[in-house]
Amino acid sequence: MTERIHPTQPIAGQKPGTSGLRKKTPVFMGPHYLENFVQSIFDVVGTAGKTFVLGGDGRYFNDRAAQVILRMAAANGAARVIVGQGAILSTPAASHLIRLNKTDGGIILSASHNPGGPHEDFGVKFNMPNGGPAPEAVTEAMYRRTTEITEYRIWEGQDIDLSRLGRQEIGAMAVDVVDPVADYAALMESLFDFPAIRAMFQGGFAMRMDSMCAVTGPYAVEILENRLGAAKGTVVNATPLPDFGGMHPDPNPTWAKALMDEMMGPEAPDFGAASDGDGDRNMVVGRGIYVSPSDSLAVLAANAHLAPGYAQGLAGVARSMPTSAAADRVAAALGIAHFETPTGWKFFGNLMDAGRATLCGEESFGTGSDHVREKDGLWAVLLWLNILAARRQSVATILAEHWARFGRNYYSRHDFEAIPVEKADSMMAALRGQLAALPGRTVEGMQIEAADDFAYTDPVDGSVSTGQGVRVIFAGGSRFVMRLSGTGTEGATLRLYLERYAPGPEGLTLDPQEALAPVIRAAESLARISGFTGRDRPDVVT
Ligand code: G6P
Ligand code: ZN
Repeated sequence: MTERIHPTQPIAGQKPGTSGLRKKTPVFMGPHYLENFVQSIFDVVGTAGKTFVLGGDGRYFNDRAAQVILRMAAANGAARVIVGQGAILSTPAASHLIRLNKTDGGIILSASHNPGGPHEDFGVKFNMPNGGPAPEAVTEAMYRRTTEITEYRIWEGQDIDLSRLGRQEIGAMAVDVVDPVADYAALMESLFDFPAIRAMFQGGFAMRMDSMCAVTGPYAVEILENRLGAAKGTVVNATPLPDFGGMHPDPNPTWAKALMDEMMGPEAPDFGAASDGDGDRNMVVGRGIYVSPSDSLAVLAANAHLAPGYAQGLAGVARSMPTSAAADRVAAALGIAHFETPTGWKFFGNLMDAGRATLCGEESFGTGSDHVREKDGLWAVLLWLNILAARRQSVATILAEHWARFGRNYYSRHDFEAIPVEKADSMMAALRGQLAALPGRTVEGMQIEAADDFAYTDPVDGSVSTGQGVRVIFAGGSRFVMRLSGTGTEGATLRLYLERYAPGPEGLTLDPQEALAPVIRAAESLARISGFTGRDRPDVVT
């Protein structure tokens, strides 16, 4: 093998978004595309003598990209790379390995819940030594580096055998191929009451886990079936496939429809769950009842003490602004802090590092805790299982009791996709323009208490983020929020988040869309969504 310094030129558009650099796979496979970006990462974070973690969600090009990155790490003087067998690591498992081994960070190959395949999406992101995604200052520096790059370093030689566990070498660099599941499963076992969950499965508790042909398959089979004794076949779509079997691996009622149908049908098991491409998102469903991500966060916060890892209580709970306020009510009852952050998991990192928030969650099917610095799909599923085992009640009963105690925050998100950008922008501008005049007005029989464009001051480092979404808040705890998606790829995606608080005891069992009807009408009359966009109904409802 020989080390080679390869001349190159900057390639336009290598600007990482919220979760690293995501592009169509053929773009990533283009000449020097991956190499330029990876060299830019290495130039920014430094490589000499360092140790990194490497793995991905198994999508198309994952394996070949991993080989390139290993050869580049060696040529750049890294001391050691810990790589998941078969180049597989879920995002939360990679975050854990980074922290467990006190490494200098890691590279994760994934485009999360976006479809994979030769014509779908691919992505590369860097996580810091704390296990969390690189902050904007770092990804900006990487981007700047891509605009001035003139060469990259790479070993030329044979591939490493990533199917073989143990140590191999590229030049002076050690490559440690590790079981992608083992350390993560041990972490889960340290947090949850595995004997109680095992006893529940032994008693006939039935579950369906849909891994959507993505990365959680091997993790879910090992943890749920092998260690916890769930029936063989509990995990479906359990083999990670390069194209996710043609599925769109996003765990929500639309894309995980087969699971939803089963859970709402006559043969439904007691509990259902799904996770996304790289294993950080989750959806949970009870027999005959869907659990909204906002409710899930609130129920987990109220019951976390039932799991050994959280028995000492929570320091605080954090949610993104568009997530419902259900978790706030739990925090208030527990007498612990609660935080409202902008959309994006990265805003939770400081709160967790500073020990101020233990549990965090977002309406976009993300839940997690300070055990890693990413959201964690299987963790959420296991915490639910632990709670079900401890309370010996159904999901439906747990939700009913939760609402009876705290009231119910009816919640839904309406997405309007691929709107022409100018139309979306003028609609948001018009709405922002009327905010100051709204308080005191009555719409659809509801009085507007406050209206603003959400701004956040990070309580740990004092940094300020403005323009994070328009909130119109009504007396009594109902509200709607509007923001444009930061992850859409085609035109603009408008997200309309709807919430209505019912204190109970009556009115806790309505259909959410019916309960929210006045708030939906108020949003339409104030923001004139159909007038601006020509759309009179959302494309996706969650
Ligand atoms: C990614 C981030 C999440 C965030 C979501 C929002 O999945 O990891 O933390 O909630 O994007 O996406 P949006 O399209 O609403 O900007
Ligand atoms: Zn994801």
